Amino acid sequence: MEQSNEKIPVLAMKNVTKNFGNIEALKNIKLDIYKGEIVAFVGDNGAGKSTLMKILSGNYAPTSGHIEVFGKKIEKFNPDNALSQGITTVYQDLALVDYLDISSNIFLGNEILKIKFFTDKKTMRLKSQEILNELSINIPSIESEVGQLSGGQRQGVAIARAINQGGKILILDEPTAAMGLKESREVYNTIKKLSEKSLTIMIVSHNLQEVFNIATRICILRHGELIGDLKTSETTYSEVVKIITGVA
Ligand SMILES: Nc1ncnc2c1ncn2[C@@H]1O[C@H](COP(=O)(O)OP(=O)(O)OP(=O)(O)O)[C@@H](O)[C@H]1O
Ligand SMILES: [Mg+2]
Repeated sequence: MEQSNEKIPVLAMKNVTKNFGNIEALKNIKLDIYKGEIVAFVGDNGAGKSTLMKILSGNYAPTSGHIEVFGKKIEKFNPDNALSQGITTVYQDLALVDYLDISSNIFLGNEILKIKFFTDKKTMRLKSQEILNELSINIPSIESEVGQLSGGQRQGVAIARAINQGGKILILDEPTAAMGLKESREVYNTIKKLSEKSLTIMIVSHNLQEVFNIATRICILRHGELIGDLKTSETTYSEVVKIITGVA
């Protein structure tokens, strides 16, 4: 039902505040995010980006305010509940197991069982290949160990796992940190594919070039406040830098 109404935000933050002791890490954040958007969160160190993502992924509860997913208020803040609402996070370290093959990683913790305790390898490989194909993620062979893959391919496997877990809203934390240009481009293509498939993407990034390359919208945080919310097509690199630094 939620899919039929394009006007309902996929994700709504309603006056979200987060305090750590007397540090106000987030102040009264109000933000609606819609299906298919690629929203970049930018801002200096300590601006509150990670804290906001941790609330969305269920790692912290807000001090006040609330979150709605497809119009439904989140009552419990824990990662399992966030995942059951379709929110998944691809963390910077990707949490992949190098000595396992690609499909074992995509199905990690989510294995298809054929007979009790025996995983159905064939089905998992077919399903994994299907997801990777849909996202145009190139890998040498579905049987490859993840440890042999490039940084871009590893990010692709981590994203495929998030999709396989039922992710509709993906949070990517610095997805191309420590990657070369070619690998980064592969990741950008995957992110664009996800958005074409109506998934909603949120990216934390320090790389403004990357942000302008992929994001449809740029949200700027400073000292815990959302001080900028701009369509990428309607702003410029220098305007965003000015807002981030607060230097007019
Ligand atoms: N667990 C915590 N306990 C106490 N203070 C915290 C905690 N997590 C974050 N903070 C504080 O909240 C503020 C926001 O931090 P946050 O990590 O969200 O910033 P950020 O925008 O992700 O920064 P960076 O770009 O450095 O990753 C900072 O002042 C930080 O010191
Ligand atoms: Mg951070």
